[in-house]
Amino acid sequence: MKKIVIALDGHSSCGKSTTAKKVAAALGYAYIDTGAMYRAVTLYMLRHHVALTNPKEVCDALDNIDISFHYNPKTKRNETYLNGLNVEDEIRKMYISNQVSEVSVVPEVRHAMVAQQQKMGRKRGVVMDGRDIGTAVFPDAEVKVFMTADVDTRARRRQQELLEKNQLVNLDEIRENLQKRDHIDSTRKESPLRRAEDAALLDTSHMTIDEQVDFVIDKVTSKLLEEAHAVKKVEA
Ligand code: DC
Repeated sequence: MKKIVIALDGHSSCGKSTTAKKVAAALGYAYIDTGAMYRAVTLYMLRHHVALTNPKEVCDALDNIDISFHYNPKTKRNETYLNGLNVEDEIRKMYISNQVSEVSVVPEVRHAMVAQQQKMGRKRGVVMDGRDIGTAVFPDAEVKVFMTADVDTRARRRQQELLEKNQLVNLDEIRENLQKRDHIDSTRKESPLRRAEDAALLDTSHMTIDEQVDFVIDKVTSKLLEEAHAVKKVEA
C-alpha cells in the first residue's frame, strides 16, 4: 500500500503526541516528535550559554548538535538523544518548557530542524506532530489534522503527565506556560503555528484518546481509498 505523510499540528498539550504515537503504531509508520527536537536544541543552547541573538553562535551550536530517536524496549517508546546521550526525561522538564518557544523562533534553528525533519520523512510512511508540519515541513502531506482543546483541559492533562514523571507543578503555572507558548508559537515570523487551509480541525476537549486516534485513522483510510480509486480510473 502507498505510504503517506500524516501531519498533526496544533496547540501545546492537546494530545498530539499520544494520538500520533498510536496512529503510527496502528499503521506501522514511524513517529517523529518534532517538539522533542526543539526541546533538545533548547537544552543544548542553555547548557552551552549560546546567545540566541548572535546568528554565528547559533549556527556554530547547530553544527555541533546531533538529535536522534531510539526505541527503548523497557519503556516501549522512542526516546530522544542529544549527541548520543538520552535526554528524554530532561527535555520534558518545566525549565525547558519555559524556554523552548524562545529558541524555536530563531530562524537558523527553524531552518536546521525543518531540513532534518524533511530528510526524516522523505521516504514517507511517517506521522509527524508539531506546529508547522502541514504548513512548512510537509505542505504536501496527504493527511493534515489541526488539533486543539480548551486551555483548562490541556493544563490538567499536562499536570497529570508531569505527575506520572514525579514532577509536581502548580496548575496555574502550567496554564500560563501553555498560553505563553501558544502565543509565541502563533505570532512568530518564521513558520508560525496556524491551521493549514486543507487541515481537518480536531477539538479534543471532550474526546478520549481512542476517539482521537479513530478520527485520524478515518482520514487516512478515506485518503488512501480516494487515491486507489484515482489510480484505477487512470488505468481503466
Ligand atoms: O510539542 P511540544 O510541546 O513538545 O513542543 C515544544 C515547543 O517546540 C513548542 O512550544 C514550539 C516548538 N515547536 C515548533 O516551533 N515547531 C514544531 N514543529 C514543534 C515544536
